[in-house]
Amino acid sequence: MLRLDRYLAEAGAGSRSEVKKAVSSGLVTVDGAVVRDYSRKVDPSANRICHRGIPVVRDTSVCYLFYKPAGCVTARRDRSDRTVMDYFPEALRDRLSPVGRLDKDTEGLLLVTDDGALNHRLTSPAHHVEKTYYAVLDAPLPGDAVDRFYRGLDIGDEKPARPAVLALCEPDAAAACQGVCQALVTVTEGRYHQVKRMFAAVGCTVVFLKRTAFAGLTLEGLSPGEYRKLQSDELERLRSRKRTGEQKSL
Ligand code: URA
Repeated sequence: MLRLDRYLAEAGAGSRSEVKKAVSSGLVTVDGAVVRDYSRKVDPSANRICHRGIPVVRDTSVCYLFYKPAGCVTARRDRSDRTVMDYFPEALRDRLSPVGRLDKDTEGLLLVTDDGALNHRLTSPAHHVEKTYYAVLDAPLPGDAVDRFYRGLDIGDEKPARPAVLALCEPDAAAACQGVCQALVTVTEGRYHQVKRMFAAVGCTVVFLKRTAFAGLTLEGLSPGEYRKLQSDELERLRSRKRTGEQKSL
């Protein structure tokens, strides 16, 4: 459910102030009845919303939550490797793009969408989307690792990594590789090989990596190679994420 004025503006019926005026003037109907309260909540998938008698339809873009298996590359095309797009029907492939990337040997949650604005919003460094990874390590973590992750690690870039939340956890029996210790780490950036470099900075090599959550979404109900379409409320929540500062941050 979202506010009527927001829906109309996002569907291109005018600026936020223009659509508010249109609603107050009685030019907008919801399921055939004039609605003058522009803050009224509507469900675009269930309500028929018209402006001056013409149905207002927002773009029909889609977003899939994909469980990327290890061994495929996050690309639309590749000469030698299987790509994440190969898991989608041919008819969809041309319009979809992955949201950010996971390394070839990383498995886990990857969004795939045809909504360029959403893709940009979720990958833009300004938005600090939370991503959680389950990592299996080849060595025990040093005693001060949690603190060092939280303070912001030097991973060899110009700027240190943003604060990350690290917690030791039980082994995941389904993980392809067992190691000396396992941890969950939540980061709000998407730098190249970020998680592997963070663990390297505290003396550990990642031997298995899986992204378990992205912007509050999880892999629940999916197996590697499977995907599901995000529901309209999930999509709405992603679209209405605020920039950092307005957002609950780590
Ligand atoms: N960090 C990494 O090092 N690899 C990934 O695939 C994702 C995050």
